[in-house]
Amino acid sequence: MLAVGIYNHAPVTVTVRSFAKINLGLNIGSLREDGFHELLTVYQSIALHDVIRVSVSRGSGIEISCADPRVPKDESNTCYRTVEKGLRALNAKGRVVIEIEKRLPVQGGLGGASSNAVAALLGLERALGKALPAAQRMGIAADVGSDLPLFLVGGTVLGVGRGELVYPLEDLPAGACVVVTPEVGVSTPRAFAQWDRIISRARTSDAELTVPLPSDRMVELGRGLSAWLSESYSGAPFRGRAENPLLALVRAGIKNDFEQVVFPEYPELTEGKSALERVGAKYASLSGSGSALYGLFASKEAARRAVTRLRGQGWAAQATGTLTRGRYWRQIFDC
Ligand code: C5P
Repeated sequence: MLAVGIYNHAPVTVTVRSFAKINLGLNIGSLREDGFHELLTVYQSIALHDVIRVSVSRGSGIEISCADPRVPKDESNTCYRTVEKGLRALNAKGRVVIEIEKRLPVQGGLGGASSNAVAALLGLERALGKALPAAQRMGIAADVGSDLPLFLVGGTVLGVGRGELVYPLEDLPAGACVVVTPEVGVSTPRAFAQWDRIISRARTSDAELTVPLPSDRMVELGRGLSAWLSESYSGAPFRGRAENPLLALVRAGIKNDFEQVVFPEYPELTEGKSALERVGAKYASLSGSGSALYGLFASKEAARRAVTRLRGQGWAAQATGTLTRGRYWRQIFDC
């Protein structure tokens, strides 16, 4: 196969919106032999985003530029890894500069780094005027991290396996949301390790189990989700329902297991969740392993009022909205 090259001198630059996600419930299952945990979660795209600019010119090498000192600029950056794999898979040559305009928190549980990596890969393909077969693109995403594939689907997405097996769920109407971003960063591998300690303590303790075993928890969330899904596919369209389907989903009893390990270590996050509930959130939760918290609100106006009150109490809070799959894909290149 002939290598794809950039033969003119002007670099081609593509700008991509790199949207965040929240987790509507997250069940941590068993520790697998490969060191990962079984997961069951619903990912939901939201409108908060970083901006990624991918430039391809003559030459070779991959360069990352970002004003935020916490973002790695070397091969450990997930954008570097997807672009390196993308170039190889497309048999393409060129010098690639990836500029990351960071607006999302680093280590925030909003999937910022994973979303950036997918945006960089999509930007690369567009800059080169080449498209990877969908399955190959998905494979690159899953190789680089469990949280990347969801950004190739967007909207409301069921995540299983280690979180990398993703299935599009029916598009929900956009809902109002408030995201609180405390200053702390939470390490996801560390949070998983702490979860394992809780589970093994519960297993060896003589006392009655306070933490249901992973398989019971998965079944519990699975039942809630399947009840919600079967209702959604029963012929009654979401739009005709009295209740916002997002709120119906969270009322299916979903929880984020990471709260049990992250809240005791960072009491301000427990306070942040209570603050969201006090200002009117219909449902509030930690996203991923945190530290971002989100609240779902009945209306945009209620979300805006909540942000004013939260900021008055010293919280870094932003009003945003959930994104349908259609809107996610329409806005991704529309910068
Ligand atoms: O897939 P990713 O590279 O984002 O995972 C980072 C780390 O988080 C893994 O090395 C593992 O320690 C932990 N992890 C896990 N179970 C998952 C996903 C991640 O234990 N389902």
